[in-house]
Amino acid sequence: MRTQVAIVGAGPAGMLLSHLLHLQGIESIVLERRSREYVQQRVRAGVLEQGTVDVLREAGVAERLDQQGHPHYGVNVQFDGERLRVPLAELTDGRSITVYGQQEVVKDLADRRDRDGGEVHYEVSDVSIEGPDTEQPLVRFTAGDGTNHEIHCDFVAGCDGFHGVSRSTIPESVRTNYERVYSFGWLGILAEVPPSSEELIYANHANGFALQSLRSPELSRMYLQCDPQDPIERWPDERIWAELQTRLGTPGWELREGPVIDKSITALRSFVTEPMSYGRLFLAGDSAHIVPPTGAKGLNLAVADVARLAEAMTDFYSGNGTSGLDTYSEDCLRRVWRVQHFSWWMTSMTHRFDGPDAAFDRRLQRSQFDYLRTSTAAATTLAENYVGMAEV
Ligand code: FAD
Ligand code: DHB
Repeated sequence: MRTQVAIVGAGPAGMLLSHLLHLQGIESIVLERRSREYVQQRVRAGVLEQGTVDVLREAGVAERLDQQGHPHYGVNVQFDGERLRVPLAELTDGRSITVYGQQEVVKDLADRRDRDGGEVHYEVSDVSIEGPDTEQPLVRFTAGDGTNHEIHCDFVAGCDGFHGVSRSTIPESVRTNYERVYSFGWLGILAEVPPSSEELIYANHANGFALQSLRSPELSRMYLQCDPQDPIERWPDERIWAELQTRLGTPGWELREGPVIDKSITALRSFVTEPMSYGRLFLAGDSAHIVPPTGAKGLNLAVADVARLAEAMTDFYSGNGTSGLDTYSEDCLRRVWRVQHFSWWMTSMTHRFDGPDAAFDRRLQRSQFDYLRTSTAAATTLAENYVGMAEV
């Protein structure tokens, strides 16, 4: 096989890149290890920045997002039961976020690739990338039916997430990893119950962090700080609801409960690999960086990467040179590190940290919360980062 861009991974990064390239007349083939059903049912992120929505609209894949997404103009932060609304739009010249499930974004992109005749191979295995530092890289894979294939291409896009093969194709001698692993994880649930709050609530309670989010007028999405090693069986539904009631509780407000239809535990980490490119291999999304989910940035960062990569490849194929490709890594990393800082800061402010400094840390968190409440500058810092910095 021969294509212009071989894309490894059919998550949001890979599927959006394939679509953006198609709009510019650039061919690609996408390789995905999992089945299409699996990829489209995996419950993950749900908050889209204004800039992400803009990219999807411009790319003509926001029809369902515009009908079913929920624009939010504010977000709540809570400390020991005291709730504070940060008016996002008011503090950012009208910018907002939209709540729309990541799997819906992926579904919309996959449907659009189908209609445009896109080539996506699901359930492939043994993907390997050869000659990324040459002008004709080669990608080998085994298809779902067991047959072996080779793709000759001009570029490889590594959109295969944190556990993919692309990052490790870049020799360790030219790569630096920056990492922070947290001692806690998030238990996420999807529940068949109308959301108890129209806007999100990030709560810091002595028992740990909790987050109220939503997917639709009938579906709530919620998270609890937990031990990442906890087997899911340690979290029967009754225990989850009891903890959510305790951590999210505030006088005069009631958390509605309902059947839990999805439940999973994710460890939290901050991770960046530099550079994000090597020869003709370009990493985008989680394959290059992971943020703790507190800032709701993982998906948004993936979209920002591929928007930039598609533009750089378009310049290349239209004879406008390689400057976009040459600076891809450093251009992306400026946003990556802004977002790393914000995600770490939101995590630090809202989670329970155990250890010898725990009492001191909690006083700092209280002070940070009071500062948000009393200072427009502090609230604006949260707001402009949360809706997404337009230029970084
Ligand atoms: P991914 O979505 O990971 O897509 C990569 C794709 O590559 C996958 O489909 C994978 O199957 C495929 N792949 C991997 N290896 C190979 C291979 N060798 N060959 C072929 N294909 C391969 N962010 C938030 O903001 N809020 C959240 O609540 C949140 N929850 C999350 C929960 C989990 C369990 C995870 C893993 C992530 C979560 N994130 C969350 C982060 C967010 O979902 C990611 O940032 C986002 O999915 C990044 O998109 P991506 O396309 O770069 O990577
Ligand atoms: C959701 C996920 C997040 O990580 C976050 O910070 C806010 C909302 C969600 O899945 O709805």
